[in-house]
Amino acid sequence: MFKAVTVVGLGKIGLPLAAVFASNGLQVYGADINNRVVNSVNRGESHVRNEPGLEELLKKTQKNGKLVATTNTAEAVSKSDVVIVIVPLLIKDNNEINYSFIDSAVVDIGKGIKKGTLVIFETTLPTGDTRNRFGKKLEEISGLSLGTDFFLAYSPERVYSNRIIEDLKNYPKVVGGLNEQSLKIASSFYQEALKCNLIKVSSLETAEFAKVAECVYRDVNIALANELAEFADKKNINMLEVIKASNSQPFSNLHFPGIGVGGHCIPVYPYFFINNGLKNGIITLSREINDNMSDYAIGKIESAIGSLKSKNVLILGLSFRENVKETTKSTTLLLINQLKIKQANIFLNDPLFTHTEIKSYNVSPLSLDDEIISKIDVVILQAFHNQYQSLDFNKFTSCKIVLDGRNSLNKKIINQLGIRYEGIGN
Ligand SMILES: NC(=O)c1ccc[n+]([C@@H]2O[C@H](COP(=O)([O-])OP(=O)(O)OC[C@H]3O[C@@H](n4cnc5c(N)ncnc54)[C@H](O)[C@@H]3O)[C@@H](O)[C@H]2O)c1
Repeated sequence: MFKAVTVVGLGKIGLPLAAVFASNGLQVYGADINNRVVNSVNRGESHVRNEPGLEELLKKTQKNGKLVATTNTAEAVSKSDVVIVIVPLLIKDNNEINYSFIDSAVVDIGKGIKKGTLVIFETTLPTGDTRNRFGKKLEEISGLSLGTDFFLAYSPERVYSNRIIEDLKNYPKVVGGLNEQSLKIASSFYQEALKCNLIKVSSLETAEFAKVAECVYRDVNIALANELAEFADKKNINMLEVIKASNSQPFSNLHFPGIGVGGHCIPVYPYFFINNGLKNGIITLSREINDNMSDYAIGKIESAIGSLKSKNVLILGLSFRENVKETTKSTTLLLINQLKIKQANIFLNDPLFTHTEIKSYNVSPLSLDDEIISKIDVVILQAFHNQYQSLDFNKFTSCKIVLDGRNSLNKKIINQLGIRYEGIGN
């Protein structure tokens, strides 16, 4: 029923989305400003790693011509009846939003839309932006009237990296429309393109708010787990055991404590509320608690072995979380800052990054087969990549302490080697 769809932004989320739409029979144009991304998609290759099923879908849909990538967004949009926007907002160091990428995408879309086009925003947004910022801009650029000439909807992307294709099938799609017609077209689009269940909400703003609320819930819940974990450490209680026991009661859903919360979602989206008039309370405090966990972890190491001055400290994982190449708000960035203040020698390993990429953070890259391993005094696990599951601590002959920031390593094996093990609440 739908002639064609343009997906604007072929990143970690946009590319799997485009491939799934195409595999469900739609003609898909993928628009991206990055030539390298466009060329690889047009060769049927994925630049997104560790996404089960994506490579196969891309190969198939590139071969049968259902997915075509381009740098010309306006032209692709002019050939489509639906446009999906999945270009990120960036966040500045002071937690203000930088709209430059998405604003520029909206200008290109405005040049291509025509009567009848439906534009759906999927990027997580502050409440009101779809209507007030982007809807108005699209009207201004296209000269068309919003709600009568062209349509507008919002449907947050809630998938989890490393299982996106699966999540797109299983998660219900929350959809809000500018008006009845917008909601109707958006709903039938998702039914055809994703074949998933829908949750239709009464406005664009409700759908926008729901996504941020979901992320805030997780941030606050993790902060609670972190606060309890610190107290459990004091009381010499294993927080992981507590969580298992507590969560056997159906109303309890304690999350897991850890060394920090990173990425461009959970630590960022609370500011979409905080910066827009939310009262100063539990959400702001949770951000502080979660950002202080790296301090807490370093404090634990110092209490165990004393000053870190001139000590060789190896951080495992530059990515904010396991198996995803993404450094936005990674806890490792906080660890690096603090370890610099402590005058430690900082080494960093991450199998997803090249040594040149790691060097750009002003730390020494280290391969796990490097001889310097035997001179490392402290290991901090920040992102538990698959490669670390088989990490051999025998090689760390001078290591005094392993700080397991994700409570994922084998405490017993580490202790047997005479190395002290510390987790977070563990
Ligand atoms: N990554 C996640 O885990 C996740 C999960 C749920 C939702 N989201 C949402 O998805 C959004 C996108 O995230 P991502 O991880 O795919 O980002 P990403 O950085 O991997 O990809 C963004 C893509 O957009 C392209 N782009 C930038 N400006 C453009 C423009 N003007 N026109 C066309 N393309 C442009 C970039 O070249 C890049 O390929 C996030 O902002 C978030 O709202 C992300």
